[in-house]
Amino acid sequence: MSLFVKSAEMAYGEQAALAGVLAGLRPQLSLELGTFTGGSLVHIAAHSREVHSFDLASHRTETLPNVSYHLGDSRVTVPALLDRLTAERRSVDFVLVDADHSRAGVERDMINLLRSPALERTVLLVHDCANEGVREGVRNAILRAGDVAYADLSFVVATGASSLLAESWGGLGMVVVDRTGDLWKLDRGVLDNVHWPTGHRRSLAWRALRPARAVKRELMYQVRPAYRRIFGSRGEKLG
Ligand SMILES: C[S@@+](CC[C@H](N)C(=O)[O-])C[C@H]1O[C@@H](n2cnc3c(N)ncnc32)[C@H](O)[C@@H]1O
Repeated sequence: MSLFVKSAEMAYGEQAALAGVLAGLRPQLSLELGTFTGGSLVHIAAHSREVHSFDLASHRTETLPNVSYHLGDSRVTVPALLDRLTAERRSVDFVLVDADHSRAGVERDMINLLRSPALERTVLLVHDCANEGVREGVRNAILRAGDVAYADLSFVVATGASSLLAESWGGLGMVVVDRTGDLWKLDRGVLDNVHWPTGHRRSLAWRALRPARAVKRELMYQVRPAYRRIFGSRGEKLG
């Protein structure tokens, strides 16, 4: 594979961080929430023995041999697989969370993951942690599900430009679960930045526009999945 994947919905720096974590971890079993066209999946599959990737609908352009593709809402499909893995006494090594980006959706996906016995020695990366909704969802999940060895929601800081409403996207957060005590040998703890509402500069204008951003995101989350189910990604009809 080439160093970076053009179709990934991630900046090259984020892809480098993703590949670096995977190269160090060398996962046997990885999960990806949010396949889209399979860009970030190229990195995950290259470093993992077995991968399960989840999306509402298929947008992928190729099928990788060590990947199982699961279609449907992650709130249903992910717990179903986690229950199966738990029954088989299997353990997930790595997860990329990049599916439903609403606050409630991220919180639900993270809680389902953090509460599963199949995650006992696991590194989770969460894309778009620069976004206030995503960040709040991860933060709430950590506070509710607890028991994390380490969390840094600004593991990779987004540099991307914000839109008119000063909406930030991109960035990677890292959450480590280590119930066995043999994965995370560094200082344990949840970094203060878990409590920051955003990695973006919090000007008066940014605060004032907060309700407008929330309404815009909510509308987008209602419309986009339905559009993609019907027309596929980027408006192409799904085969
Ligand atoms: C930002 S894209 C993923 C990009 C991909 N990880 C990459 O970097 O190449 C988010 C994907 O999550 C999917 N998605 C959104 N809500 C979802 C849900 N509730 N369950 C499963 N997938 C969902 C969307 O269909 C979309 O393909």
